[in-house]
Amino acid sequence: MEFEFSDKALSFQPNIFNILNDKKNELIKAGRKVYNFSVGTPDFKPDDHIMKAVCEAAKDPDNYKYSLADSDEMTEAVIAWYRRRYNVELSTEEIMSVAGTQEGMGHIALTMCNEGDIVLAPNPGYPIFETGPYLNGARIEYYNLYKENGYLPKLEQIDEDIAARAKMMVVSYPLNPVCVCAPRSFYEQLVEFARKYNILIVNDNAYSEIIYDGRESLSFLEIPGAKEVGVEFNSLSKSYNVTGMRISYLLGNAEVINKYKTIRSQYDYGMSYIAQKAAVAALNGPQDSVAVNRERYQERRDALCGGLRSIGWNVPDSQGTMFVWAPLPAGYENSEKFCMDLLENTGIICTPGSSFGSNGEGYVRFALVYPVEVINEAVKVAGKWLESLC
Ligand SMILES: Cc1ncc(COP(=O)(O)O)c(C=O)c1O
Repeated sequence: MEFEFSDKALSFQPNIFNILNDKKNELIKAGRKVYNFSVGTPDFKPDDHIMKAVCEAAKDPDNYKYSLADSDEMTEAVIAWYRRRYNVELSTEEIMSVAGTQEGMGHIALTMCNEGDIVLAPNPGYPIFETGPYLNGARIEYYNLYKENGYLPKLEQIDEDIAARAKMMVVSYPLNPVCVCAPRSFYEQLVEFARKYNILIVNDNAYSEIIYDGRESLSFLEIPGAKEVGVEFNSLSKSYNVTGMRISYLLGNAEVINKYKTIRSQYDYGMSYIAQKAAVAALNGPQDSVAVNRERYQERRDALCGGLRSIGWNVPDSQGTMFVWAPLPAGYENSEKFCMDLLENTGIICTPGSSFGSNGEGYVRFALVYPVEVINEAVKVAGKWLESLC
């Protein structure tokens, strides 16, 4: 049988990740030590009270049925959390669960876009911000982010004609991969921009709990008028170390939520009851570990950014996220080539900036997934190799 795959399926090719992965396996086989800083999965464990809730829920046979809808208990827990955390009041019509922000972002353009409709996405940005709308048939127009402007878009420089035709704009701060936060004034301008051009703002607040140096964590929904023009994803994945449970919410504009619920019900039968119990335990339970996690990430950030600076690699401190965004050391211009050389020579794996868009070229991203001692060790190994290049 000769299959004829779709153009969309064919547009995704095996990429640098497969190549790096093969190389990594080769090194491991050869007995080399590997430091994998490429994948953003927290190595911290979920709180005991979350795991206990999962174990209890798993004993009830009814919890293996289709849930079809969010439980009142979980919706109330989300409402209470947003009230406590951001002083944002949500009604039940303004909340829906999704199977992780990845999935939620992957399908939301179905709600807004016909074939070829424009979605504005950041360059550089987290890949699903563009691949989701692209898979839904939308046309992506990038808004460029540059270091000189703190990686914030110059909204007034977005082409008037494109803005007028755009249906949706994806925004996210602190932004993976560039690790900067946005000030409140930016979100205020964003609400005005969305109103002027009639664009739905989709804000991804994935790292709302991983923000450093006492910076303010913001919800887009705090901004006056935000609910009229937008929605926000807030995932429990990184905040509560439950990436595999696939728990996230879309919150905000009730009309958009209602339409998205209808579309999602065509292919999804609701979040597992067991995951819903985990979410209730996480949102209503003690929050101490959220602050402890943040501190531990900040210590790792200090170890990696400070450590790399100490070996002559000028890497800025991340403002948020569980990542570090590092300009390529002198002598390198191609991030894929650098990642390959770094891996071969040191066993350290990081992600090429080019995989986050053309403006990511010239950078690499490290995930803060090792304890400080291991980070210190990796920095030493990297330092030796970089020295040998001089
Ligand atoms: C910016 C951003 N959004 C969403 C996700 C995925 O979140 P979830 O686990 O809720 O699908 C990630 C994961 O790395 C991310 O970095």
